[in-house]
Amino acid sequence: MADGVEAFEAIVEVGAGTGVVTDSLVRRHPSARLIVFELGDQLATELRGRFPQAHVVGGAFHANASVLQDLPAKTIIVSGLPFRSLSSDVVEPTVAAFAELLYADRARRLVQFTYQPRVPFTAPVGLCWHRIKTVWLNAPPANVWHLSSKTNWQGSDAAELGASA
Ligand SMILES: C[S@@+](CC[C@H](N)C(=O)[O-])C[C@H]1O[C@@H](n2cnc3c(N)ncnc32)[C@H](O)[C@@H]1O
Repeated sequence: MADGVEAFEAIVEVGAGTGVVTDSLVRRHPSARLIVFELGDQLATELRGRFPQAHVVGGAFHANASVLQDLPAKTIIVSGLPFRSLSSDVVEPTVAAFAELLYADRARRLVQFTYQPRVPFTAPVGLCWHRIKTVWLNAPPANVWHLSSKTNWQGSDAAELGASA
């Protein structure tokens, strides 16, 4: 997923888990400000110890998204959240918080990792999904999706996928 994160000044990682993606982000983007959200207390504690350069926030993202103040325009969100297995009372405020971050600047995007061939969740108004890559060597095959402003899509080889979840 770190492949999709270039030229950004801040990275918000949501659902960092054991830190596999975090590690790649830190290595590839050492000068970017990194804010990491992880639900599990123990995992969050381990992430804090392993990545002292990151601001690690424990607990549910949607309940803590208010810490995301003063982000630069060039901010990207990287998510490993398992949307298809989350309840609607988590999905709805999480998607709303993502949308608020993306609406703040057209250049921003969400990079979402999923094992599902379908879009991770219905694109909020004004945003659209693009499937960027399928990693066939992963078991099961994994997809990387981008969610960004409809007016700022610059890719050429990915199909645009809008509202159908
Ligand atoms: C599929 S795992 C991510 C895997 C991760 N890339 C890794 O290297 O381990 C999803 C993670 O999201 C976390 N999570 C689930 N719901 C969350 C939420 N609402 N806010 C923040 N983290 C959440 C889970 O605790 C889990 O660690």
